[in-house]
Amino acid sequence: MATITLPGLIDVHVHLRDPGATHKEDFETGTRAALKGGFTRVIDMPNNSEPTTSIRALKKKKRLVAGKALIPVGFHFGTNGKNTSSFLAAAADEQVFGLKLYCNHTTGEMLIEDLGLLEKVFEAWETDKPILVHAEGVQLAAVISLAQLYGRRLHVCHITQAIEVELVARAKGKGIGVTAGVCPHHLFMSGEWREKLGPYALMKPPLGTKKDMQALRKGLTSGVIDIVETDHAPHTKKEKASKVPPYGVPGLDTALPLMYRAVDEGWFEEKGIRTVLHDRPRELFRIPKQIKTRVVLETGSFKIGDDGYETKCGWSPFDGWDVPVRVKSVMLEGKTLLTEGKIVGRK
Ligand code: NCD
Ligand code: ZN
Ligand code: ZN
Repeated sequence: MATITLPGLIDVHVHLRDPGATHKEDFETGTRAALKGGFTRVIDMPNNSEPTTSIRALKKKKRLVAGKALIPVGFHFGTNGKNTSSFLAAAADEQVFGLKLYCNHTTGEMLIEDLGLLEKVFEAWETDKPILVHAEGVQLAAVISLAQLYGRRLHVCHITQAIEVELVARAKGKGIGVTAGVCPHHLFMSGEWREKLGPYALMKPPLGTKKDMQALRKGLTSGVIDIVETDHAPHTKKEKASKVPPYGVPGLDTALPLMYRAVDEGWFEEKGIRTVLHDRPRELFRIPKQIKTRVVLETGSFKIGDDGYETKCGWSPFDGWDVPVRVKSVMLEGKTLLTEGKIVGRK
């Protein structure tokens, strides 16, 4: 059977829920899901129940990662606008790759709505490491202006709407240091999947229209959108089935095979996979090279979920979808961590 070899992939946007919500995921199960999906490095988001907005919380995460993770895990520091005095130390930390800012309501308690506070954040983050934003629609226009005014690099997370692609294209055209990432669920699903899957297709930002989806595909192929990020946001089935289901869907196990499906569907070029899941993420976040690291895929016809999930939440909105590849083996810095689809080691 034909195989494909790739470098170890990088996901710059995951919520591994450790500490605080380890019934959904933890650093061990989350990095298992990453390995199964062909990722050899992930960067964890700060919206834990104890948010990563202090150096103390950051140190705690580092200790937990050291004891549990199968692959390297980096962090984005968080801000509620009131912790700017920690920015210098956070930015100097080698395991911190960016600052995460929430401009819309989502999982966690880190929303900043006050423009004055936002401005203070842009002023105080005096480093070349990017500011990552959850900013939908008009909020995005506001943070792009702030990034320009303060000369900060801005990464737009999980871009969803056609208008947002337009804003990013315009900003890039003016030479503003803006980049963007898109999630597989926004590339493959539009609003009608909310009716089909109910809470299992509920996430922030919400699924867009078919027109939005087309704009995202076009944005990704033209390079206006730089990378694919999973926004791996696991919640248990029980939580999803509850009266007030939480926002978010898992994505680590499934992103890579889905991008090969995109190639089969004819809207994405195979050579772009390495660009959007390795080269560009590495470049944008200045991620160290992993030597003797590679992912081998087997080609054929597979169904998502057929061999289970490594994520602790145990489900995927793409369950049952046909995909043309499966991760066969992963080597990280000379050590085999996954072989014949089974996890056999840790870094
Ligand atoms: C994320 C989560 O659950 O942590 N949820 C989501 O719907 N995407 C938070 C986020 O990325 O906005
Ligand atoms: Zn978000
Ligand atoms: Zn997220």
